[in-house]
Amino acid sequence: MARYLTGIQPSGTLHIGNYFGALRPAVELQEQGDAFYFIADYHALTTLQNPEELRRNVMSVALDFLACGLDADKVCFFRQSDIPIVTELTWILSTVTPMGLLERAHSYKDKIARGLSASHGLFAYPVLMAADILLYESDVVPVGQDQKQHLEITRDIAAKFNEIYGPTLKLPEPRIREEVATVPGLDGQKMSKSYGNTLEIFAPEKALRKKVMGIVTDSTPVEAPKDPANSIIVQLYRLFASPEEVDAMTQSFRSGGTGYGEYKKQLFEVLWNTFEPMRKKRVELEADLGYVESVLQRGAERALATAHQTMAKVRAAVGLLDFHR
Ligand code: ADP
Ligand code: TRP
Repeated sequence: MARYLTGIQPSGTLHIGNYFGALRPAVELQEQGDAFYFIADYHALTTLQNPEELRRNVMSVALDFLACGLDADKVCFFRQSDIPIVTELTWILSTVTPMGLLERAHSYKDKIARGLSASHGLFAYPVLMAADILLYESDVVPVGQDQKQHLEITRDIAAKFNEIYGPTLKLPEPRIREEVATVPGLDGQKMSKSYGNTLEIFAPEKALRKKVMGIVTDSTPVEAPKDPANSIIVQLYRLFASPEEVDAMTQSFRSGGTGYGEYKKQLFEVLWNTFEPMRKKRVELEADLGYVESVLQRGAERALATAHQTMAKVRAAVGLLDFHR
């Protein structure tokens, strides 16, 4: 059975772009292979230096995934930092990683351009990511488009290692989620935390309603026909409503006579109802954090067994003594 592995950044509350772009595909994939999903808390340290916030975010993303249907019996779900030997592999890989490979990384250059300070961790981020992937002998790594280059770097590092030390590491196949359409934000740009245009999956009712009512629209008067093709409301509605409901809304747009406010109310209703079961589940889980912790512990035990096997091979390949001698 193929092993799917992916890392999730613990970056605070998730929005519906994350849901359709990452969370739902991950939950669907758990049926198809041996899924390893981890919360990338070591990676988060490159941009988040607030211990309270980090702890809160890790728990929050664990709750989000479990509430949205991640099945702890099917998926090996764990915290990256519960397997600290991934940092040992990172070091060994870094000794075969050409500087030029990292210097060409877009995500590093983008982060610097956005004003983050150029730390070694930020620069070495792709090496840690390569270690995540190679440590667990992943076959397929499903990620968003933005991570494509990181996967190429991973394959380059693994190939380089194998070239020097002989065949040891398994080269992963990327699976880029191109089929997932970009979910638009309240202003029509890509929905993203960094643009402040998000609809959070688990926002309280009042706050979410207010945000939906704040979706940007043009100034077509109530009675006039409206263009459904360019409407953010229709694009978002499509994600949640049935094809019949979408048809009804687009027809009504073309006929005129209804204001945008009314459509926003309809959008809010489907959005709110869609996440109702997940919200309930999340409240239950929040009341039982011991259970959530036990899921992560169980995941870590499984992940550790695989990690030890790979590290034994890697240590032997490079000439380090066996850790368990
Ligand atoms: P943000 O842009 O809010 O910082 P992230 O970059 O942390 O979001 O996204 C995590 C994952 O969620 C991405 O790899 C991507 O697959 C998915 N994602 C984020 N925003 C969207 C969106 N607007 N539409 C579709 N998928 C998205
Ligand atoms: N860099 C990824 C992101 O920002 C998260 C990540 C860390 C990851 N390690 C990984 C993804 C390993 C896939 C495989 O989304």
